[in-house]
Amino acid sequence: MHQFSYVGNKLHCEGVDLAEVAALHGSPTYVYSAATIADNYRRLAASLSGLDLRICYANKANSNLAVLRHFANLGAAFDLVSAGELQRVVAAGGRAQDSVFAGVGKTEAEIKMALEAGVYGFHVESEPELERINHVAGRLGMRAPIAIRINPDVDAKTHAKITTGKSENKFGIPLKVAAAAYAAAAKLPHLEIRGVQMHIGSQLTTVAPFVEAVKKVLPFVLELKATYGIQYFSVGGGIGIVYEDALASGAQAWWDGKAEGERPLTPEVYGATLQPLLAPLGLKILLEPGRFLVGNAGVLVSRVEYLKRGSGRNFIILDAAMNDLVRPAMYEAYHEIVPLARDSARPALVADIVGPVCESGDCFAKARTLQEVREGEFVAFMSAGAYGYTMASRYNTRALPAEVLVSGNRFELVNTRESFEAMVASERIPSFLKS
Ligand code: LLP
Repeated sequence: MHQFSYVGNKLHCEGVDLAEVAALHGSPTYVYSAATIADNYRRLAASLSGLDLRICYANKANSNLAVLRHFANLGAAFDLVSAGELQRVVAAGGRAQDSVFAGVGKTEAEIKMALEAGVYGFHVESEPELERINHVAGRLGMRAPIAIRINPDVDAKTHAKITTGKSENKFGIPLKVAAAAYAAAAKLPHLEIRGVQMHIGSQLTTVAPFVEAVKKVLPFVLELKATYGIQYFSVGGGIGIVYEDALASGAQAWWDGKAEGERPLTPEVYGATLQPLLAPLGLKILLEPGRFLVGNAGVLVSRVEYLKRGSGRNFIILDAAMNDLVRPAMYEAYHEIVPLARDSARPALVADIVGPVCESGDCFAKARTLQEVREGEFVAFMSAGAYGYTMASRYNTRALPAEVLVSGNRFELVNTRESFEAMVASERIPSFLKS
């Protein structure tokens, strides 16, 4: 559920008319709902309240400082994958000490920074990485807390680019050699074995792959507890959200109207199914959700620049492009696109919805039916709160978009639209090209 809906015929985020945001801050602009984020967080926490639970928000999904502060205020810890993300969490007032540091390619400098920040656990993806962390910790006269990422070889049945738990992926260590990796870690003097981790993929809309993976690794987790006295088991992230019917899924009625087997995964089902499997372990359980917490809490507002009527094909050309929201171009991802001002008197239009970037991949939707829109009007991409701004680029020297946070009937700019000067600030013309 989320807090985007039409009030009368105007699309609102909580108590704010999105047209007002567009008028004040222009477009393209990401708009996030603080109440939706809080509700998602609390529902997930409540669904696993019988566990010693720590939610480590995967800030790769949306790492705006305001969003991170909101999570810190809600009591979340963080899942980090780079020095930059660690610095963001610290800058936003988040607790690095409760957070975990993941990623297949941690550099020495990143390991040092994370050790000095006192992270709760390094999620280790290979044996050479164990040795590198041991080496850096030794140099600092410290012991590094580690958990090895187990690859359970489970098919998450999601998009090929975001499935991670199969043996052919670059992630983690296969279950059958994990015992040897832990034995190797135990021999390294500057490591402390603190936990075990897994993550099978992203945008999972059923609970079955989670259950399969957890069941598969449970005996090994118990073995680790007995042998090394581990404190925690991180089951990763991956809970999916609604993209197709995104706007309608804001309302409880939409969920109630679905038959049991057709309802997308809810945190309640996730919790009720996994809690009985995880509780008997007697370990701290970490979750690393990203998309579930912020995905449906954000939209991208964009202006219609042109309506180009072609022979046999119409094009709605927006001021947002693949550099602002890359998911459709990169994953063939579907985002629902709705007008900010609804008008039932308007005819329907079938059109390709595209951006201005000079390549045909800059297409958000093909042959999409929506209310006829006119130049200067605005539309919103639903479910754009996760992997939207964080994956944006400056391709075509297009400035990074603005970001706004809404709470109740207040809204504030939390990231200014980039200026040309900021875009080129670090670039230099070398002396040998200056005559
Ligand atoms: N933990 C680990 C180790 C991960 O690799 C990821 C995501 C997460 C947690 C958070 O997963 P989530 O709860 O958000 O599904 N850019 C893609 C998604 C990439 C996910 C990468 N890893 C997209 O736009 O769909």
